[in-house]
Amino acid sequence: MSAPAEPVLSLRDVTKHFGGVRAVNRMSLDVPSGAITGIIGPNGSGKTTLFNLISGIYEPQAGEIVFRGRPIHGEPPHRVSMLGVARTFQNIRLFNEMLVIENLLVGMHAQLLSGLWAAGLRTRRFIAEEQSALQSAIELLEFFPELAGTHDTVVKNLSYANRRRVEILRALAARPALLLLDEPAAGMNTTEAAKLLRDIRRIRDRGVTVLLIEHNMSVISGVADHVVAMDQGEKVVEGSFDEVSRHPKVLASYLGSD
Ligand SMILES: Nc1ncnc2c1ncn2[C@@H]1O[C@H](COP(=O)(O)OP(=O)(O)O)[C@@H](O)[C@H]1O
Ligand SMILES: [Mg+2]
Repeated sequence: MSAPAEPVLSLRDVTKHFGGVRAVNRMSLDVPSGAITGIIGPNGSGKTTLFNLISGIYEPQAGEIVFRGRPIHGEPPHRVSMLGVARTFQNIRLFNEMLVIENLLVGMHAQLLSGLWAAGLRTRRFIAEEQSALQSAIELLEFFPELAGTHDTVVKNLSYANRRRVEILRALAARPALLLLDEPAAGMNTTEAAKLLRDIRRIRDRGVTVLLIEHNMSVISGVADHVVAMDQGEKVVEGSFDEVSRHPKVLASYLGSD
């Protein structure tokens, strides 16, 4: 056995309360590089707040968040994204009136060297970058066969499952080292959900570390390499899916008793 890889992301005692609600309370976590870590927990257990803390939407009231050896708590979302953390949202956030390909180009924009300033000048470098971005976006679309031929479709005309897929691709367009997926299979039927999770394994196999929220525990069985269970803002237990799903505290929180 080789030594475990350095965690790509570490949380130490991270805390975010809303008034009297301890949404996330002294949460510590090491996210192993190159793996899929599943975060499970009943509704209201603090999973989305945890993503909002990692991605810079909220600043923790206490604790620290270190990404690739660098503290990121207190950095604004666009900085965190430029450093290599991308995410999707529990409620899909796409530009619904824009084309699929335009949404992917928006996702890529943070990584373009020239930025908006050069865009105004239409420099040769900007034009070259735009052309290569378009090429990359077209290639990215091939990741999901279900999206074949949809590059010039207006997002609002896609099926719900395909909008979920576009949102994942938009996150991947930024070439993240860490991808945060907030209940990506929500609203999908069992067959679609199982297929999507197999596709998420293909994302991991491309070298992207994945942190995956799911409130339906059975969905991540066979997908997550490592599972962390949360309840009431705190980590209850972590380990393999089998260890975590059998843990008495996890069973109790899912049964709504204690
Ligand atoms: N912006 C907010 N303002 C007030 N309370 C919030 C806010 N965001 C989340 N909460 C509360 O924090 C707790 C955790 O919510 P959330 O992180 O969305 O849980 P989960 O994603 O596990 O369902 C809930 O009690 C929720 O009502
Ligand atoms: Mg949530």
